[in-house]
Amino acid sequence: MTIQLNDMSLLKTQAFVNGEWTDGDNAETFAVTNPATGEHLADVASVGAAETRRAIAAAEVAMQDWKARPAAERAKFLRRWYELVMENQQDLAKLMTLEQGKVLAESVGEVAYGASFIEWFAEEARRVYGDVLALPQTDRRGVVIKQPVGVVAAITPWNFPNAMITRKVAPALAVGCAIVLKPASETPLSALALVELANRAGLPAGLFSVLPGSNAREIGAEMTGNPTVKKVTFTGSTPVGKILMAQCAQTVKRTSMELGGNAPVIIFDDADIDQAITGALISKFRNAGQTCICANRILVQDGIYDAFMAKFVAAVQAFQIGNGMDSASTHGPVITAKAARDIDAIVKSAVEQGAKVVLGGQIDEQGECFYQPTILTNVDTQMRVFREEIFGPVAPVFKFSTEAEAIAMANDTEFGLASYIYTRDIGRVWRVSEGIEYGMVGVNEVAISADVIPFGGVKESGQGREGSKYGLDDYLETKYICMGGLHS
Ligand code: SIN
Repeated sequence: MTIQLNDMSLLKTQAFVNGEWTDGDNAETFAVTNPATGEHLADVASVGAAETRRAIAAAEVAMQDWKARPAAERAKFLRRWYELVMENQQDLAKLMTLEQGKVLAESVGEVAYGASFIEWFAEEARRVYGDVLALPQTDRRGVVIKQPVGVVAAITPWNFPNAMITRKVAPALAVGCAIVLKPASETPLSALALVELANRAGLPAGLFSVLPGSNAREIGAEMTGNPTVKKVTFTGSTPVGKILMAQCAQTVKRTSMELGGNAPVIIFDDADIDQAITGALISKFRNAGQTCICANRILVQDGIYDAFMAKFVAAVQAFQIGNGMDSASTHGPVITAKAARDIDAIVKSAVEQGAKVVLGGQIDEQGECFYQPTILTNVDTQMRVFREEIFGPVAPVFKFSTEAEAIAMANDTEFGLASYIYTRDIGRVWRVSEGIEYGMVGVNEVAISADVIPFGGVKESGQGREGSKYGLDDYLETKYICMGGLHS
């Protein structure tokens, strides 16, 4: 075993079902590999439909007691879980870098970001409110109460192996739901360590089960088809989200979908150029370009274009890709060799159509999962780099002339998750923010994520919001009670 942690008992390789660590029914396992080195890290239990069904049944039982407890008690458990996550921040970060590849500093940051959702929803647990309605008839009143939606099934991605889990599990538990989770098969170790810490914080059996598995289709089919599950929450690609939504339609489940993005960063002539470059660099290359909100298209107005390019290229040239455990590395590998080849195919197709490679443009000699930080110019709106989510360290830079043209280019996509604009003109800030079709707009800022904000998209980037007070509503049903007989 090549993993060394301060607390080796955080390294779990079994599923966690109904409060117990267990192998899959068929004793099958799947391998977890370090993308930076190709090294085998662990063999993890692979569960299927039967174990998922049992976890859902246990969740239904556990939820009856949990939802009846005072909110303050649920909050206390979440607070303790938060503290344990932060106490183990270094170990969780190390596990994350080993299985996911991002540089250790980013992993340390993600653990704190993930923990912030647990802390936030521990606080919000006590803030579920209802309403009293004045009805047209004087002898009655309307009362609106909020109740937990029911058993939740969650499917989470590999790009944020910690925070995408806590952003779903914490609000579900805060309001009184139980939850079953299928983590990405590339990064199950972070998920299993998280549930181990929840268990140490006093998690009741069955309330939160973690189901690692290499057969995502089988687990997903059980989660979406099982009538006991009342809500499915998913973060991942738009095509998979559409399949899950279609499957959920059979039993009319609630869904929250955080799907693909194609974020524009629009940089106007009047922008603070250094601020814009810093923002474009962070947004584009965070997590080696593997975030749903990362800059996919950099749109620069013609008056500032040359000055932007000179500084942007110089900054990217200084990047040091390498193993995320090495403190000299500024950027890590992408998740798999296939991911690197897919990124390369998008770049090659742009080049075939006339794009110019200013920097990078190929898989790096360091290994099959390393893609060189890449800048493309001479790109147009018909190319795959404009139309598709690249999910890698590739920055295509487009030129535009007018504000109207920038808005049209930004909206020329089926996606609508995050967007960013750089300008110092307050009128333009409002015109563009209102004119672009996105769930989130960063103005002169790309670090828009936090526990307190409603994270989510429009169009084919999904529906529902995560984090913030709005994120609680996604786990609540609204019930209307008509109270009559008020006249004496
Ligand atoms: C994502 O890429 O899906 C999440 C990014 C974030 O929460 O900042």
